[in-house]
Amino acid sequence: MSPSPLNPKTTHYEFLGPAGTLAISVGVPILTYAQYFACSEVAGGCPPALSLHTTCLRVLAALSDPEWWKSLWDTEATIAYFGWYAFCVVAWALLPGDIVEGTTLRDGRKIKYKINAFSTFLLALGITTGLILRNGPEAFTFIYNKWVGLLTASLLMSFLQACYVYAASFRPGKLLALGGNTGNLIYDWFIGRELNPSIGSFDIMSFNELRPGLILWVLINISMVCEQAVRRGGFSQVTDSMWLVLAFQTWYVADGLYNESALFTTMDIITDGFGFMLSMGDLFYVPFVYSLQARYLAFHPVVLGSLRTLGIFLFNFWGYYIFRTANAEKNDFRNGSNPKNLKFMTTARGSKLLTSGWWGRSRHPNYLGDLIMALAWSLPTGFETPITYYYVIFFTFFLMHRQHRDDKACQKKYGNDWDKYTKLVPYRIVPYVY
Ligand SMILES: NC(=O)c1ccc[n+]([C@@H]2O[C@H](COP(=O)([O-])OP(=O)(O)OC[C@H]3O[C@@H](n4cnc5c(N)ncnc54)[C@H](OP(=O)(O)O)[C@@H]3O)[C@@H](O)[C@H]2O)c1
Repeated sequence: MSPSPLNPKTTHYEFLGPAGTLAISVGVPILTYAQYFACSEVAGGCPPALSLHTTCLRVLAALSDPEWWKSLWDTEATIAYFGWYAFCVVAWALLPGDIVEGTTLRDGRKIKYKINAFSTFLLALGITTGLILRNGPEAFTFIYNKWVGLLTASLLMSFLQACYVYAASFRPGKLLALGGNTGNLIYDWFIGRELNPSIGSFDIMSFNELRPGLILWVLINISMVCEQAVRRGGFSQVTDSMWLVLAFQTWYVADGLYNESALFTTMDIITDGFGFMLSMGDLFYVPFVYSLQARYLAFHPVVLGSLRTLGIFLFNFWGYYIFRTANAEKNDFRNGSNPKNLKFMTTARGSKLLTSGWWGRSRHPNYLGDLIMALAWSLPTGFETPITYYYVIFFTFFLMHRQHRDDKACQKKYGNDWDKYTKLVPYRIVPYVY
């Protein structure tokens, strides 16, 4: 399909262009497997107590051993993973849900979305809880035991999906993402060529953003709780730190799913295409990397005591409060209401920007709340290893980069008005600091 006024050719590369996107496509899976082998019981600890020399020898021995490569694949885990994905599709199709319209696209269309991610979550939780109550915690340690096989299966699914949406984007009449139409195969496949790929009324991007990855993250955590319960002699022996991680992350996921319609005003849905970056992020990275704390606690229990438990709980609540109120202020405002009577400026484009409340304190106050929560999720693991803090560190760089991308996109969208806004609200994420 040649560029058209509606689908102009992308002339600017992000992520250091094709070489950068290829490096991320290969590097992120390698790092994710490496994270497992650097922090697991199978490998001998978190990290295993080995010298650098022994570690290098071990890595080389594994990489040159065909049996090690074969061990990354597990047919049973692959069937289970694809079954899980199919369950989510069937739940989307069969469970009732309101139909909500997204924002107006460049071609004047509005996509209709079925809102039933939260009921899918409740159904998955109900089935899991029933299974555990009936058969005990042993019945749900499958995910802990099949970790590497499931990781490979989710990577395969991410890859297949990205190839499918890339190929389908060449069908006539597609609306392409402004950033994903360079003509370079690797780059466009990674960034996502089509803005909102779909099969009939099944919107692939919004489905992936919320269901098979996010819900699986909670199921993974439940499996880690079960693993700890089996080892320690029942649920009553599961540590306070493990319950905290489960509660925090379940709450975060439930909140995202409950507020499903808020997704339709996010950058991913409005401006980004759906390619390997989001496919891998949603299906592979989020569930298997974000659950690191619970996986660590499954084989390395930490008892916090009531004071530290309360302190971490309050810290997480503080982050959640900022995250939720900031997102609610913007969502209400973008949906035409302003219940707190916040100040705003009107741009030449006609669109308005909040200049008081959370959005007057920094240009991405919601990221601040997210970062506080990320730290609160790592604190229950204690301080014996830095690896469980990987998520906070990764997330800080991720959100700084995302803020930079969004700033550039808004500068392009609003021009001088954005400059005025950044003068009024100079801090990017953390008020008075950054
Ligand atoms: N856990 C994870 O892995 C993860 C990953 C990504 C995001 N998140 C979270 O998801 C949530 C959504 O984040 P997001 O990155 O999609 O972006 P977002 O912060 O929800 O939205 C950015 C958009 O908001 C609008 N905006 C900016 N300033 C505004 C103002 N002053 N008043 C009104 N509107 C304004 C602009 O779009 P318009 O002006 O065009 O409306 C801008 O492009 C955040 O809470 C984030 O932390 C979590």
